[in-house]
Amino acid sequence: MRLDVVTIFPEYLAALDVSLVGKAAKSGLLDIHLHDLREWTYDRHRTVDDTPYGGGAGMVMKPEPWGEALDAIAPPDGPAQPRLIVPTPAGRPFTQELAYELAAEPWLAFACGRYEGIDGRVTSYAGERMRVDEVSIGDYVLNGGEVAVLVMVEAVARLLPGVIGNPESLSEESHSGDGLLEYPVYTKPPSWRGYDVPDVLLSGNHGLIATWRHAESVRRTAERRPDLLAAWGDAVAGKDDATS
Ligand code: ADE
Repeated sequence: MRLDVVTIFPEYLAALDVSLVGKAAKSGLLDIHLHDLREWTYDRHRTVDDTPYGGGAGMVMKPEPWGEALDAIAPPDGPAQPRLIVPTPAGRPFTQELAYELAAEPWLAFACGRYEGIDGRVTSYAGERMRVDEVSIGDYVLNGGEVAVLVMVEAVARLLPGVIGNPESLSEESHSGDGLLEYPVYTKPPSWRGYDVPDVLLSGNHGLIATWRHAESVRRTAERRPDLLAAWGDAVAGKDDATS
């Protein structure tokens, strides 16, 4: 998979060299290209922002450097176009489902906004030739899109074949498969500082263990994410309807 990231802080993305994502890049599974937006500015101050039309606080990223950056990375008459992801708190939510969808793309480009965001015409221009998604990683506001890109790239990269040693671990985790949160996990020793591993996990009875884990998933989800439990209940009810 090819990844292009345009930002005024390429050094923020240094974390992409570390851990599983870094390994995937070194092995060639990921082909990562970082670009400094200021490469496409021509004034002495390498200006990327200006005051907002209509007034208001803060600055807006100018469209010209963005247009040139997109044209350089993905020429309009090129043989293929990336899917463009624009991180913004005003975007559609980033979910595990979207991570799987993005993991199936051959080429993703990320446009990191700063200040109050990027001039609204840039997504319209890009949308003429590539799929554009404005995406939020959560209901809080960061100073820019860079950290959101790190989050999304890590979530997507670990789904690519060959990135995670044991792909079975993907199907058991939170936000995958049944839509419930993952059950708690334990390892040796069986007793630690007065806390014991639940007996059932030492029983060797795989049927009982599976039942216990499922019950723990439901209990956790009810306590922490009742919204997810409601969706899970609807899905289970739907399945029952289909089979009755
Ligand atoms: N940029 C600033 N806040 C953000 C958020 N919550 N998600 C994605 N990009 C952002």
